[in-house]
Amino acid sequence: MERVFIFDTTLRDGEQTPGASLTVREKLEIARQLEKLGVDVIEAGFPATSPGDFEAVRRITQEVSVPVIAALARALPFDIERAGEALKKAKNGRVHTFIGTSPIHMKYQLNKSPQQVLQLARKAVKLAREYTSKVEFSPMDATRSDFVFLCEVIEAVINEGAGVINIPDTVGYSAPEEFGNLIQRIMEKVPGINETILSVHCHDDLGMATANSLAAVKKGARQIECAINGLGERAGNTSLEEVVMALKTRQDFFSFSTSIHTQQIYRTSRLVSRLTGIFVQPNKAIVGENAFRHESGIHQDGVLKKAATFEIMSPSSIGVKGEGLVLGKLSGRHAFKERLKELGFLLKDEELELAFGAFKELADKKKNIYDEDLVFIVEEKISEIPEVYTLDYIHTVTGNKILSTATVRVKKKGEMFQEAACGDGPVDAAYKAIDRITGIRLALVDYSIHSVTGGKDALGEVMIKVKGEGDLITGKGASTDIIEASAKAYINAINRLVYRQRNNK
Ligand code: KIV
Ligand code: ZN
Repeated sequence: MERVFIFDTTLRDGEQTPGASLTVREKLEIARQLEKLGVDVIEAGFPATSPGDFEAVRRITQEVSVPVIAALARALPFDIERAGEALKKAKNGRVHTFIGTSPIHMKYQLNKSPQQVLQLARKAVKLAREYTSKVEFSPMDATRSDFVFLCEVIEAVINEGAGVINIPDTVGYSAPEEFGNLIQRIMEKVPGINETILSVHCHDDLGMATANSLAAVKKGARQIECAINGLGERAGNTSLEEVVMALKTRQDFFSFSTSIHTQQIYRTSRLVSRLTGIFVQPNKAIVGENAFRHESGIHQDGVLKKAATFEIMSPSSIGVKGEGLVLGKLSGRHAFKERLKELGFLLKDEELELAFGAFKELADKKKNIYDEDLVFIVEEKISEIPEVYTLDYIHTVTGNKILSTATVRVKKKGEMFQEAACGDGPVDAAYKAIDRITGIRLALVDYSIHSVTGGKDALGEVMIKVKGEGDLITGKGASTDIIEASAKAYINAINRLVYRQRNNK
């Protein structure tokens, strides 16, 4: 069966999701998981945009060995040189260069004539070839470009040595039949296109990214660019899990395979959600928490009799274990370590100790510990962000007829600092007390809470977005007490801010 290559852009286009910025270590962690997932290409970043992106691409080339590592670059010498430098140690590196080819992009964004754009594209590919043998070229906003000009640009860059031609539906404007036809017409018109890999990169502004990508595959595209959980600019990119599971579940219709180990999909989705701070909507196809839940009596009855009555794929095919309780208060280190191994975590001894301590603490408060709790514990404890500030104690008084107050004690470098404040509710009061302790003022832009598992004693997971002087910063915290989880999330955001300032990110 013919293969469709899976090009993952979670770390590049996905990171362009508002508020989803990742540290270098977080990117490395996701890259390692993408390797386990089996993607063919990891687009690791856009090195010219920041030293952090450059470093992330460089580190990923050193620590991830199987997938091709791609680095994005505008069709400008500086960008291409930075991408080439970042990929220097890559076993299998790819410079991905792009320029807008639609009339609206050329006139208003680039202020260049079509002939100037054509020359820039040609030169960019030529220069990129000096750094890597495989160069990918994208005519940005291809779906709103003049077809004859689009083909002219593609032919020119193929002649300069581009080996992958990617057709982006940059603004998510196209419809499946139309996009499939565009791919077919390019295949028919452009000399040399059969010697390249034809790729597609769809955005989901009209909710058609997955359908467009699959229609393109039917007409000759052999690489799909996509992101975990459909992350990406605006409404996001084609969701990796959707195209992969569509190709697998409907192999009878599409007749294509991918290299993806689908049992790693759920774990990858959870990791990306946790590290980016972007929740997955419950009804999201494949990885939403309702994707395999049956509510109506008729459906439940059918599934109990035979799963295939209402399930077109099994939860286990994406790595949802389905078994409930895993560990409890009396479970020992060995069982804990083994379970983590099954969940894909290989921890160093000191990391295991930290995680085990947190597990025991949680087991004292919560009777049943589920896989989701374990994943949360590990990801919270094993973080690259130094805990400059840690929450030591919190006490709040609140009610519907009294002014809420909070007393908070925070540890910094072994020293304790305590403050009290009142506010509009206990979370506001706690945040004001923390502001007094740290002297850092942050505006709260977004606050959400979510229970990690079912049950009244579930861990409450709080995700917040705050704004300091620069970009949005995400903070995360979890506890069986939601006020404590809120305070932890706020302190986590402050620690991230301090880390960013120290590392000039
Ligand atoms: O959406 C887009 O056009 C892109 C390109 C850089 C490929 O992300
Ligand atoms: Zn894009």
